[in-house]
Amino acid sequence: MEMSRLEKFFVNSSVYNYVYAKTLLARWQQFVGGAIHDKVLEIGCGRGKTSLFLKKQYPTITLTSLDYDYAQIELAKQIPQDAANDAANSITFVQGDATRLSFRSASFDTVVQIMAFHHISNYKDAMKETARVLKKGGTFAMLDLGTPFFNRLVHFFFTPEAVFTKEEMLDEVQKAGFIIEKEQGRRILFIVAKKK
Ligand SMILES: C[S@@+](CC[C@H](N)C(=O)[O-])C[C@H]1O[C@@H](n2cnc3c(N)ncnc32)[C@H](O)[C@@H]1O
Repeated sequence: MEMSRLEKFFVNSSVYNYVYAKTLLARWQQFVGGAIHDKVLEIGCGRGKTSLFLKKQYPTITLTSLDYDYAQIELAKQIPQDAANDAANSITFVQGDATRLSFRSASFDTVVQIMAFHHISNYKDAMKETARVLKKGGTFAMLDLGTPFFNRLVHFFFTPEAVFTKEEMLDEVQKAGFIIEKEQGRRILFIVAKKK
């Protein structure tokens, strides 16, 4: 569901996004390598900074980026004017719910979720929907926060909707019909999986 005002202020700030792209996203991209391809759906794109990052790193993909929060999607749609770059112009931003996707089954080659599932209380449904919209052999790539990240202080200021350990998340991914290809981390989870 929607972020708190504090978290929205934080994740929408330029300083946060600059540091985020240079550190965590860069590390994740190295981990993922060439697994992101062709027709890509991004779940929980927020104001579109991760969408822009994806499109710049993988210029040949066709990217649809979705978020539940109308206000964040409206901000994301402004990126092309702000950034004045071609990458942003080719991203399709849509409002939608990851637990009830409106896309046809087997219509994407890759689904990406970056920092979204800990905001979705029924993330297990989002995982099932991810599997549904992916083609056979398609890729699921994620970056999210695991249980150990949420110490008392973080939990107080940035209360998550869902908390999961690495083992719980790997289990859900496999139950949804994926084979885990790579995984890394406990506080910060990197996972790449292939749909059976
Ligand atoms: C922490 S933000 C991550 C934004 C961006 N991916 C990033 O890493 O900067 C999490 C996003 O998930 C979105 N979200 C929460 N529940 C959702 C749902 N059911 N379907 C789609 N997006 C959802 C929130 O609105 C929020 O924009």
